[in-house]
Amino acid sequence: MPLKRLIGKFLRFIFTTNRAIWFEKDLTGELIDYQAKIPVEIDMNSTSQTIEWLKKQKESWVTNPQEITAALTYNHCWPSVRTNGETIGCIKIGFNNPYIVDYNRVIQLPEGMAFIYDTYVLEEMREKGVAKYLISQANKFVKSQGYTKVGCHIPPWNKASISAYEKMGFKKVKYIRNIRLFGFSILIAKSPWNFSFFTKGKIIKGYVPYG
Ligand SMILES: CC(C)(COP(=O)(O)OP(=O)(O)OC[C@H]1O[C@@H](n2cnc3c(N)ncnc32)[C@H](O)[C@@H]1OP(=O)(O)O)[C@@H](O)C(=O)NCCC(=O)NCCS
Repeated sequence: MPLKRLIGKFLRFIFTTNRAIWFEKDLTGELIDYQAKIPVEIDMNSTSQTIEWLKKQKESWVTNPQEITAALTYNHCWPSVRTNGETIGCIKIGFNNPYIVDYNRVIQLPEGMAFIYDTYVLEEMREKGVAKYLISQANKFVKSQGYTKVGCHIPPWNKASISAYEKMGFKKVKYIRNIRLFGFSILIAKSPWNFSFFTKGKIIKGYVPYG
């Protein structure tokens, strides 16, 4: 391994940090039935095809091996969306125990709550409402499985993703800062209206998003 990569790996072991906004949506009311601006169809039974399709994409973060293992172990649902028979995007739905890449671990969701993550749409197909369609279909599916709430987490810089989720009724619940020191993870939660890195945050002892 080249020295530069080795040093980078060592420094990342000593310290890394990331943050995300936790969103939640209550599923007990009427859900938005959003239609994309292009003709699309969703396949709710395509988890293995979605995994294979994601492996062909440029971004390696969409196919984290531990995330895939958790998804297959706990029967998560990774539907894909097609137009004219071609897959153009997907969404990941986790039940009970999703693996959160930012935290390097599987979390335990509270009773009645599902989790949506990594909405992904091919670059040339973006801004046509495909993500909003995927989110609205995922909400409907999760509700049909008996869940009353769905959560997701999005880094604050991802404006397109935040916009799509907020349009589909998701509300900010918390900001979470994840700090990893020598392999140990500390999660700090703040209310969404008052967040900064060093000001008082509550250290979460249990699992996100409930501290
Ligand atoms: C995030 C992503 C899934 C959105 O897909 P999409 O099909 O283009 O989303 P939609 O067309 O349904 O809606 C996107 C919304 O964000 C808006 N938007 C797009 N780019 C934006 C930007 N840079 N800043 C602010 N808003 C933006 C769009 O105008 C649209 O808003 P509208 O409802 O007012 O029209 C897509 O950009 C993507 O795959 N990104 C890479 C993967 C990723 O980051 N996934 C999210 C992980 S948390």
